Amino acid sequence: MATKSASATPVYYDTPVRAFALAAVLYGIVGMLVGVIIAAQLAWPELNLGIPWLSYGRLRPLHTNAVIFAFGGCALFATSYHVVQRTCQTRLFAPGLAMFTFLGWNLVIVLAVITLPLGMTSGKEYAELEWPIDLLIAVVWVSYAVVFFGTIGIRKVSHIYVANWFFGGFIIAVALLHIVNSAAIPVSLTKSYSAYAGVQDAMVQWWYGHNAVGFFLTAGFLGMMYYYIPKQAGRPVYSYRLSIVHFWALVFTYMWAGPHHLHYTALPDWAQSVGMLFSLILLAPSWGGMINGIMTLSGAWHKLRDDPILKFLIVSLSFYGMSTFEGPMMSIKTVNALSHYTDWTVGHVHSGALGWVGLISMGSLYHLIPRMFGRKQMYSVKAIELHFWIATIGIVLYIAAMWIAGVMQGLMWRAVNADGTLVYSFVESVKATYPFYVIRLGGGLLYLTGMLIMGWNTVMTVMKGKAEASPIPPLVPAHA
Ligand code: HEM
Ligand code: HEM
Repeated sequence: MATKSASATPVYYDTPVRAFALAAVLYGIVGMLVGVIIAAQLAWPELNLGIPWLSYGRLRPLHTNAVIFAFGGCALFATSYHVVQRTCQTRLFAPGLAMFTFLGWNLVIVLAVITLPLGMTSGKEYAELEWPIDLLIAVVWVSYAVVFFGTIGIRKVSHIYVANWFFGGFIIAVALLHIVNSAAIPVSLTKSYSAYAGVQDAMVQWWYGHNAVGFFLTAGFLGMMYYYIPKQAGRPVYSYRLSIVHFWALVFTYMWAGPHHLHYTALPDWAQSVGMLFSLILLAPSWGGMINGIMTLSGAWHKLRDDPILKFLIVSLSFYGMSTFEGPMMSIKTVNALSHYTDWTVGHVHSGALGWVGLISMGSLYHLIPRMFGRKQMYSVKAIELHFWIATIGIVLYIAAMWIAGVMQGLMWRAVNADGTLVYSFVESVKATYPFYVIRLGGGLLYLTGMLIMGWNTVMTVMKGKAEASPIPPLVPAHA
């Protein structure tokens, strides 16, 4: 049962929302800093200084884990706990368990920061952490599911708002993916081997990997989109009917697209074709969702000129549209023959990661943070505007450099002389990529600078921001 305040209005439990929101900002800075370091190492490999735990192979998984699971994960926890209470008009179910998810998730992050640089890894991309940490993740995730679905269970309104469908889908799918893909046989406390072998192992891994994109990096953030864009724009969702079609079409289609990561491998050809087909179909629900989000602004386009938070939210959708157009194209076998193994993939990843995941999280957090700390708005609105432009220029530099580098590499690797010998050696393609690695580093530095500005603005908002006329107490009345 939701606790009632003196005036009998349900109260919200926002301590974990605040904690996760601040953690997201902090981990964003750390994860992107590691991204900048590995980007610099690709241009100048000697930057690992000969120290094993600073080597590229160990810092790269630290970067991906930090940005996806620490930055993205904390942003998802914060926003889902915030949204589910407001849209269900009730208090978080099992508040103690919600705080446990905060502590547990942070313990996972600390353990990742220690074990990955030490070289302890299961070797599965985006699932590198060893089995004891995997067990901890499973416990935290199940607790998260209990808190989230428990809150839906005690809701005071009969309808379940669409943002909760996306958050709920993300929570269930990630539990399933994590538990199936992490099945392993431990040989010591710090080493295990996958329960699957050969091509089955590869298929399970990329079923997991692609759905980590579909559910962790997409469905959860679409939950943010369906709440924070209408809120920030002061408009209802463009088409509620479309949002429901969007949900079911997206979750059904994503599950089958994984084999596009395994084109031209030992995976049976028919399975590769199924992956390609479903990836092409995926364009439709992805763009349906993007259009629904952008069109929510119809009749209020002028707000985009003055409101930097809306700029973050809407431009993130443009990048979402771009990467979900590019992805289906890259899944076509003949296109993948050119793009696979090249920096084109890295460009695609970061147009989704920096453009979509990064910008939607930042926009949502800019909306959330002042409200959670009883402030009228962020300490400096100008700094939000500055962050937006620096980040956007950074993304464009990053992804344009990687596209050019990737297509160039693909073409150089396949160029053959009349007698069938290769025109270029591999090292020549590495040399030709060098300027683009330096440009990418510049883009990454800009993106990190934007995040540092956000960190400063957040600290100032919490410490010195102008308080609301009636400061919001720790437990916030439902209609505040
Ligand atoms: C300052 C910002 C960032 C910089 C400079 C950066 C840089 C890098 C670099 C250099 C790599 C390795 C590429 C390679 O192996 O050739 C990488 C990989 C990756 N990064 Fe970032 N990154 C940044 C932000 C992010 C963010 C915010 C996310 C996610 C939300 C992200 C997700 C990833 C992923 C998933 C990969 C693995 C890509 C693959 O395997 O193809 N990055 N990043
Ligand atoms: C319709 C949606 C999408 C489709 C069909 C799609 C398709 C693809 C394809 C074909 C690849 C290259 C596989 C390879 O050659 O190894 C790829 C890689 C990747 N995509 Fe997407 N993509 C989509 C959206 C996104 C979005 C929105 C994001 C990020 C938020 C994203 C993140 C990634 C990552 C992280 C990889 C690299 C995986 C790795 O090799 O480590 N994708 N995607």
